[in-house]
Amino acid sequence: MSKIDYSLLNERFGLRGEVAFKEGAGGLGVVEVSNSHATAALVLQGGHLIHWAPRSQPPVIWLSRAAKFGPGKSIRGGVPVCWPWFGPHSGDASLPAHGFARTIPWEVTATQTLPNGATRLSVHLVSSDATRAAWPYSTELMLHITVGTTLEMDLVTRNASNEMVALGQALHTYFEVGDVRRIKIHGLGGCEYIDKVDGCARKVQSGPVTIAAEIDRIYLGSTADCLIDDPQLRRRIRIAKGGSRSTVVWNPWIEKAARMGDLGENGYLNMVCVESANAADDVVTLAPGTEHRLWVRYAVEGL
Ligand code: BG6
Repeated sequence: MSKIDYSLLNERFGLRGEVAFKEGAGGLGVVEVSNSHATAALVLQGGHLIHWAPRSQPPVIWLSRAAKFGPGKSIRGGVPVCWPWFGPHSGDASLPAHGFARTIPWEVTATQTLPNGATRLSVHLVSSDATRAAWPYSTELMLHITVGTTLEMDLVTRNASNEMVALGQALHTYFEVGDVRRIKIHGLGGCEYIDKVDGCARKVQSGPVTIAAEIDRIYLGSTADCLIDDPQLRRRIRIAKGGSRSTVVWNPWIEKAARMGDLGENGYLNMVCVESANAADDVVTLAPGTEHRLWVRYAVEGL
């Protein structure tokens, strides 16, 4: 990995008292954001947000205490960007699950203070011979993040090639919860889902989602806001989104978490992934010269 010049980054994109670049755990470059509304941190590798906490709230984005940081490693927690496919690659098992975007270098393209005091960061994925070997299409991927009282993320893919491109993707967000056994996830009732812990059986959700065992589901045609009601932290996380027709709900529970080795002791109790995605039946087809925008807005409400 090429060495990051932090003085140059701070000179070009730093905002005094608000945006600073530094070397973080495992030698990875980190952007730290602090404004009157919230604090946040983004690891440049993967364009991976690892922290967001509105002022006077515990973190909304969960990061494992046992997360591993290092070149080419995916980080357990935060908001991994799954792109340009979701889950295992359909034709080549040697390619990484959830695509390569989350483990390769990204670069900052802009930072800005917005009139309301929020901070906007823009980063883009850096293509290389390795990415072109895994993904032989000319596409560009950008992520714009707005850190304020809400957290907004826009994942924009542009098809610069002259062929149709089928794209799977997700903002694989790990949310922090007081006790996953007590939460209720609203907004998915009536949606068909693929139940990955039951041989990919197709089922229909009735009522809110509750969690008392491993859960790994792709909800299809799901476009409504999702609400995570958390009685322990006495808050509701509202997930609004656009350009996303799938919602993935995942918690590995005890045995899978133990096998993974980077979830931390009892970490599974304090996290739930509610991922805004385009996966399985909902993969997006991008015509030449067009763009696709998957956006999310996370807000905290009282319960
Ligand atoms: C979820 C998938 O999105 O991500 C799960 O639905 C998977 O099947 C999980 O186990 C974690 O994936 P990874 O590659 O980060 O361990």
